[in-house]
Amino acid sequence: MNWWKEDIVYQIYPKSFKDSNNDGIGDIKGIIEKLDYLEDLGINTIWICPFFQSPMIDNGYDISNYYQVDPMFGTNEDLYELIDQAKKKNIKILFDLVVNHCSDQHEWFQKAIAEPNSKERNYFIIKKKEEITNWRAIFGGNSWSPLPNSNDEEYYFHVFSKEQPDLNWENPELRKEIYKMINFWLDKGIKGFRVDAITYIKKNQQFPNFAPDGLDGLAHVDKGSINQPGIESFLKEMKTETFDKYDCMTVGEAVGVPYKDLEQYVGDGGCFSMIFEFSYDNPSMPSQGNWYDYKQWTVDEWKQKIYKAQKHISKIGWSPTHIENHDSPRSINKFLHPDQICGHSVKMLATIFFYLRSTPFIYQGQELGMSNVHFNSIDDYDDISTHDHFQRALNAGFKEEEALRLISPRSRDNARTPMQWSNSKYAGFSEVTPWLKVNSNYQNVNVDQQLNDPKSILNYYKKMIELRKQKKYCSVLVYGEFSPLFENMKNIVAYQRTNNEQTIYIINNFQSEYCEIEVEMPFKVLLNNYTDITVSSQRLIYLKPFQSLVLDIE
Ligand code: GLC
Ligand code: CA
Repeated sequence: MNWWKEDIVYQIYPKSFKDSNNDGIGDIKGIIEKLDYLEDLGINTIWICPFFQSPMIDNGYDISNYYQVDPMFGTNEDLYELIDQAKKKNIKILFDLVVNHCSDQHEWFQKAIAEPNSKERNYFIIKKKEEITNWRAIFGGNSWSPLPNSNDEEYYFHVFSKEQPDLNWENPELRKEIYKMINFWLDKGIKGFRVDAITYIKKNQQFPNFAPDGLDGLAHVDKGSINQPGIESFLKEMKTETFDKYDCMTVGEAVGVPYKDLEQYVGDGGCFSMIFEFSYDNPSMPSQGNWYDYKQWTVDEWKQKIYKAQKHISKIGWSPTHIENHDSPRSINKFLHPDQICGHSVKMLATIFFYLRSTPFIYQGQELGMSNVHFNSIDDYDDISTHDHFQRALNAGFKEEEALRLISPRSRDNARTPMQWSNSKYAGFSEVTPWLKVNSNYQNVNVDQQLNDPKSILNYYKKMIELRKQKKYCSVLVYGEFSPLFENMKNIVAYQRTNNEQTIYIINNFQSEYCEIEVEMPFKVLLNNYTDITVSSQRLIYLKPFQSLVLDIE
């Protein structure tokens, strides 16, 4: 038994959560202001995206000082106050641990540039121009950029943007610095980390060139830098030197881990409490090809991915589940056709993921059914990746208007618009123009309005949370075995959670048609996204469009 299996985590994107001092940017004091809201929602833990000193090229995922809160978010005192206040409400805090790379403005990188003989020079991956590879960085361009002051003779490596130089994990001294920082924050009373881009820390030390996979003559950086053999010893060491010394929760953002390698990451011997599963969180995203390509998908293919992930992970360890985060469009728009979007379908999506055998993560605004945004000008977008995609679309010959249309459903900014607290100007997020435009639907979709509406999405989330925490059901809903139900029925996403004493059915009718299912009687309805349920004497339930039911099979 681990507390982090039972917890429900809420992800905060601090820049967009709540602006306490009206400069248009969310901040730590804003989070403190909203702790009551989070307590009332019922979550146990918050993960806060990066708020450390940063030039904000990648919104804080480019850290220039790991020990200092960026003034735009407040002060270290504010942070300690937050840890304190949250503790009083039994809310635990996870930081975002960004240690694959730092910012080019970090003192380490500045020293590496200034002094060729400095120890910091070896904190980064630097090669002679002749030795660099043809790997394409994730935010575009070559993953090697000229090292300033080197007369174009030396280049440094970056998986992401050129302002995010990768740290050289091969260097034990650098690793020690990282462990020191991790322990520093755990000593301050935080309960763990979401660990950013961790599968990238080991690079193929041969640094081979790969056959180009694009018109630019480059090959995706992942080929030489994701989940490479040898990464396990870095992971093991990090765990022994840091996490193992505390009762903490760690969630790896571990893209590219095949199920066969899971043991390095989770379970008894793995580095983390859990790692995110990305196989089903964005089904229309092609695994290969252009970023703007759309993969057709069906509910039945999608549910098989969920079942498969549950099966593999439960053999080895534990996993979180999410349908939204700060890197991905809103779930409503990813999973539902425009003509399917309604209160019932949004609640259905929530139900599908919430009772899987996992720790549920809720991304801010998801509990309101916040949706994608559409901006008419590229200048309204902030995200570095969106700007890169826009440029790539232009390079591929699309007109500006078309490029914008392609970007709109895919941009990470869809998830980053300010949290919608009320129907007052700027959605109650701030009293001045926010750093990113508010979604124009805030008058209809906001916390104030939903708190007062018993049928709102927000109140449904509260019920889901309450049920998972209930004494009588916690054990089976958290630890119970998972197995699919009605697997062959089209558009039915259903599973059961069982232990020796209890059986719970989670049934979701993912379609706008009615559907009949047969259920063993008697049962008790624990949750229903409609006000009623139609049952016939022949043990048949008539599921309404997008109906979700959680049933206690007695
Ligand atoms: C992770 C973060 C993303 C960031 C990237 C580089 O994927 O979630 O927001 O851009 O790492 O740090
Ligand atoms: Ca502010």
